Amino acid sequence: MNPFVTIKDIDQAAQAITKKIKIAPQVALVLGSGLGGLADEVVDPVVIPYAEIPNWPVSTIHGHAGRLVIGSLAGVPVMVMQGRAHYYEGYTMDHVTLPIRVMQRMKIGIIILTNAAGAINPDYQPGDVMALSDHIGLIGMAGLNPLRGPNLDEFGERFPDMSQVYDRELIKLSSEIARKNKIELHKGVYVCLSGPSFESPADLRFLRGIGADAVGMSTVPEAIVARHGRTRVLAFSGISNKANLDGNTETTHEEVLAAGSLIVPKLTTLIKGVLESIGA
Ligand code: HPA
Repeated sequence: MNPFVTIKDIDQAAQAITKKIKIAPQVALVLGSGLGGLADEVVDPVVIPYAEIPNWPVSTIHGHAGRLVIGSLAGVPVMVMQGRAHYYEGYTMDHVTLPIRVMQRMKIGIIILTNAAGAINPDYQPGDVMALSDHIGLIGMAGLNPLRGPNLDEFGERFPDMSQVYDRELIKLSSEIARKNKIELHKGVYVCLSGPSFESPADLRFLRGIGADAVGMSTVPEAIVARHGRTRVLAFSGISNKANLDGNTETTHEEVLAAGSLIVPKLTTLIKGVLESIGA
């Protein structure tokens, strides 16, 4: 098996999707653990299970529905990924990020990524929302960069700049919408680990020391691939638990999913507000 995704694989998936829809989505949303409820807001939805799209990675994780929902949100044509696949499920980084490539082939200009994350910053509480101002690509630094392998010249250059991964204008817009709606929106640095085990207390003290505010198991590979193709990126972490730096409490997937019910209404307001402004 070729470990790297080819342009043929990407186009097969893109064609399977475009055959089933009548609109051209302008914005894509990727919904993380416990955050899939946002897809219920999509008007006139066409639903495509991931299993029906060739080469598309299917998530095996509870809390990830595994379907594309395409329709209109706040008047903007959108494609929503209700659930995503992760590296820890056994997919290569290329396969984890294939959906981003498909979005780029479909000429989607903005990708909004969401995730559930643990709070490392002591000021963050479960239920809070953070806009990513930057990231630490720890697993990429360790060799698992999604751009490893033959460069896909159709999308971008071999050595792409990453000085501004998260779009400053879109972050500013999100802050304004948060203020208007009385939502506290943190801005912070997200660090991506491979998982699936949660961090040890010593891991967490290390992550705090290197400048991370929140920790999770996704988003960064997708953001890197998006920026390789010059797609604009906005990303939000829903804080699902406090990182356990002292080793006295356990972290569970159940609490991560439960926090989603606090986070989804806030993210819905923020994302709809951003879309309304983009559409206007
Ligand atoms: N660590 C890593 N990933 C996570 C966490 C966490 O505490 N919470 C939700 N995703």
